[in-house]
Amino acid sequence: MRDSNIYDRQRVHTCNCRGHWMKRRLGELAFGIVWKVLAFLGISRLDYYRHYARSDIDQKYKTLTGCTSEEEFDQTGKLVLEQLISLGFKQNSKILDLGCGTGRLATQLLPYLGEQGEYYGCDISPEVIEFCRKRYSRSNFHFLTNQMKKIPLSLGANFDFIWCYSVFTHIFPDEMVCLLQECKRLIRPQGLLLASYYIAGREPAFLKRVKSFYGNRDRMEYGDDFLREIISEQGLFVLDTISIQKQPIFVLRLR
Ligand SMILES: C[S@@+](CC[C@H](N)C(=O)[O-])C[C@H]1O[C@@H](n2cnc3c(N)ncnc32)[C@H](O)[C@@H]1O
Repeated sequence: MRDSNIYDRQRVHTCNCRGHWMKRRLGELAFGIVWKVLAFLGISRLDYYRHYARSDIDQKYKTLTGCTSEEEFDQTGKLVLEQLISLGFKQNSKILDLGCGTGRLATQLLPYLGEQGEYYGCDISPEVIEFCRKRYSRSNFHFLTNQMKKIPLSLGANFDFIWCYSVFTHIFPDEMVCLLQECKRLIRPQGLLLASYYIAGREPAFLKRVKSFYGNRDRMEYGDDFLREIISEQGLFVLDTISIQKQPIFVLRLR
């Protein structure tokens, strides 16, 4: 059943800059007004619930999660699998795909994963989970709807890998903290959690001022230090950083 409280609709913008408090307040105010106007016009609010519920997932599943073409869905999926394999993923590995969307990774794993392996995909959208259940139907492929901050799995520390691509790029820090805790609960001691982020300050110069986080559900950017601090506070550490299509991916492990 849909939990209408999961998406907090008032949470349109956030900006957190360095500098004198007055400049900071003015900066926040200016950003706030811009985001609110865009939100009012319906331009800048990404709501995955509505997005999937209103879309023809069967027809458009390859282009509903940010890919500009069907080829990109397949190509990036292949790159992801190659990266996972280079980090030790095997045909008998157990993986959780957190925020699985329409199954970019599931598409690649369907022919790759062996009978001993296990794939779990979860997402906040019941529609997309229903779609995935039908499309990627194998006895060792499981799909479930999760809440914004909770993953309803009671398997214990079971996963060799947790893959979280383009999800923390759309949520707020407190939500990410809860999901990191959930990942910590579900990952094996030597397992790897791979999560992609937007790191603030890499693109327009004015964003270099961003210290902690900035953005909305369209795009959430984190300051590098702030992000590493959050990760460390959750008892995880950054083993490495890789990238897929220029999007930084942190490779995390339990401390
Ligand atoms: C840009 S799409 C990426 C989908 C998929 N990971 C991929 O690589 O194609 C972001 C996905 O994250 C899901 N999502 C957003 N917040 C989430 C949360 N708190 N828990 C699980 N999934 C979430 C959205 O519903 C959406 O399917």
